[in-house]
Amino acid sequence: MKILLTGGTGYIGSHTAVELIKRGYEVEIIDNLFNSKITVLDGIEKITGVKPKFYHADLLDTEKLDEIFTSNNYDAVMHFAGLKAVGESVGKPLLYYYNNIGTTINLLEAMKKHGTKRIIFSSSATVYGDQDGVKLTEKNQTGIGITNPYGQTKYMIEQILKDNVVANPDFEVTILRYFNPVGAHASGFIGEDPNDIPNNLMPVIMKVSTGEIPILSVYGNDYNTPDGTGMRDYIHVVDLARGHVMAIEKMGPGVQIYNLGTGEATSVMEMIKAFEEAGGKTLPYKITARRPGDLAKIFADPTKAEVELKWKTELTVADAMRDTINYLNCLKKR
Ligand code: NAD
Ligand code: UD1
Repeated sequence: MKILLTGGTGYIGSHTAVELIKRGYEVEIIDNLFNSKITVLDGIEKITGVKPKFYHADLLDTEKLDEIFTSNNYDAVMHFAGLKAVGESVGKPLLYYYNNIGTTINLLEAMKKHGTKRIIFSSSATVYGDQDGVKLTEKNQTGIGITNPYGQTKYMIEQILKDNVVANPDFEVTILRYFNPVGAHASGFIGEDPNDIPNNLMPVIMKVSTGEIPILSVYGNDYNTPDGTGMRDYIHVVDLARGHVMAIEKMGPGVQIYNLGTGEATSVMEMIKAFEEAGGKTLPYKITARRPGDLAKIFADPTKAEVELKWKTELTVADAMRDTINYLNCLKKR
């Protein structure tokens, strides 16, 4: 089975490429390298022994996309490509709508024209909007209280995929709603290495540990949580990648939606402690004001994926911290 990974040199795409190759899938990647590096392909090769065929191209370039689909017969597409910096999306909404939605429409057009019917889309828990403190199931409402254009694009793309299936009933769509991906491959050869300035917790923790950012700002300790700091459902990126493999093996007609999370919530202070324990050194932090738009506690009910995909997370936050530190050490040696 041959699968095209859009955004496949990115953080989640690269880990998914590894898991797919390990299970015998043929993987090809298209990425414009806006937020990833070509050296990721070497990392994938070091782990799996296979260097995926790579197209350095933009999904907004319809001619190039047509060329790629003309010269290949893909059984499925995993659509990771997109811009994901929430803060930036508030300042550059048109860029986010144009890139995230435009790439998806171009891809669906190319798939239809060339007879590729299966697509797995990287959605996000952000589609659940401002529902705070409840274990989110796929049946919870979506689209209400989304506070930024990035989140809106995820919600809109879900809708586009659903509408497209109504018009093209032979399409098979799986929407995966990721909670908070963290960690790296245990080998240390691939991990999260964004080109942009990070605003998610884990990349910030990494940059504080290397001294690139002097101190971690903890955004508020007056939430209604046991230690007052925000709680999230942190899922190891390798578990998340395995979720894609299970999803591709279970695809069928229509639209399937799954939460990919652990079902557990961890606070910012617990994340700091876990990193310190794994690395054996302290992480400087200060308590600052809340970040606008943040909620106290967001976590998944992953039961549907567990039952239908026969998928369950196996790795812990401690594993993610160990693997992140391993990855940082590998980066240092390069
Ligand atoms: P990432 O930035 O590491 O990877 C995305 C890749 O897409 C990058 O390599 C980038 O260069 C590429 N890309 C962007 N626009 C493109 C275009 N027009 N043409 C070709 N390539 C393009 O991000 P990630 O963390 O791996 O996330 C993958 C997907 O999962 C994204 O859609 C993201 O929104 C979604 N997601 C991520 C998280 C998270 O916390 N990382 C959470 C929920 C959902
Ligand atoms: C953020 C986005 C969300 C997006 C998700 C994945 C906002 C308001 N939400 O979610 O739309 O889907 O990323 O890209 O931006 N924290 C700190 N200090 C930091 C960074 C984070 O204390 O420097 C805290 C946050 O307040 C939060 C937790 O760490 O409690 C996790 O933050 P983050 O990694 O940004 O993820 P989300 O808030 O879940």
